[in-house]
Amino acid sequence: LIVPVILAGGQGTRLWPMSRSARPKQFLPLTGPTSLFQNTLQRVANDDVYTPAVIITNADYRFIVAEQAAELGIALAGILLEPVARNTAVAIAAAAAYASEHFGPDAVLHILPSDHDVAVSEGYWQAVREAQSAASSGLLVTFGIQPTHPETGFGYIQSEASVGAGVRPVLRFIEKPNTERASQMLAEGGYFWNSGMFMIGADSFLRECEVLAPETLSAARDAVSNAKSDLDFIRLDEAAFATAPNISVDYAIFEKTAKAAVVAVDFSWSDLGSWDAVWKNAPRDAAQNVTQGQVTLDNVTNSLVVTDHAHVAVNGLDDIAVVATNDAIYVGRLSEAQKVGGMVKTLRAGK
Ligand code: GDD
Ligand code: MG
Repeated sequence: LIVPVILAGGQGTRLWPMSRSARPKQFLPLTGPTSLFQNTLQRVANDDVYTPAVIITNADYRFIVAEQAAELGIALAGILLEPVARNTAVAIAAAAAYASEHFGPDAVLHILPSDHDVAVSEGYWQAVREAQSAASSGLLVTFGIQPTHPETGFGYIQSEASVGAGVRPVLRFIEKPNTERASQMLAEGGYFWNSGMFMIGADSFLRECEVLAPETLSAARDAVSNAKSDLDFIRLDEAAFATAPNISVDYAIFEKTAKAAVVAVDFSWSDLGSWDAVWKNAPRDAAQNVTQGQVTLDNVTNSLVVTDHAHVAVNGLDDIAVVATNDAIYVGRLSEAQKVGGMVKTLRAGK
């Protein structure tokens, strides 16, 4: 069986003000009745393929995680709590160290982001099986998606040009290129987008950390061996965890390792990173509007209007995003939704 490890500690700033540091996007029901985190849990609640899931998240989100799992009646193998946010390299290393103790050093882990909208197919499960066997032989497996535009928010994976089935060695991994480089890669061909999911052997991953990210490894190892149980939670040791460099697994490991492999996966997938992506993926009405909560529209088209409390009425607008929460409201062009992240930075800086 594969051990699913769900990364649920990100902050999702581009979906402000719905996504707040107190309740980030993975815990919001952005595409239907259940949250993206819950959808991820449901995808791995399959005991022919998976053990119960290990969740790794920030200590602030412990009750949301426990509540949302309980709501679905899904039992977990453990909820690891990070005392401070240090990005995904140490989060994955800590999960691997924990899994190596609890499931054995040869355990194969499926690392999953908690905030993607995914629809799986037959082909998906085949890719998971292929990745599992490659990971058992020591490879660090990424899941590659056919790129469609020069997106700068993703990692790019160059693999052997022969596009056939199965797992292929990664020639190069380039995390978040600039637009020029992204366009070049798209024109050149032979690149995948990194989906953000990985399949790794617990100890193979830790061994690679030892070589490429020794500070990350020692922070993770010590944080796990000095962890304390607290109700249903495993609190990673703060003094140890805080020494970890703040770096993502893509930069720390995948750009550098010679052991990376990629399996092509064909599934409908979206990193619901911004309001325009939410709009694209949610059910739309005849006027191409997405609404949520108490909303009244008159002569509005191609827009997204979401409210969690106040009644919102909009008249005579096109390409608009309105997101209303108890204490903050965002209004802007839906097509310029990427700018929200920058505005949140300004807000946090108190300007
Ligand atoms: N536990 C924990 N701790 N989880 C975290 C942390 C952390 O400090 N930071 C982020 N995460 C979680 C997020 O909630 C998300 O589920 C996942 O880890 C990935 O983090 P993102 O911050 O969303 O990464 P990204 O979207 O910028 O880039 C990654 O995903 C892309 C695909 O969506 C990279 O892997 C890219 O290469 C990839 O293309
Ligand atoms: Mg993401």
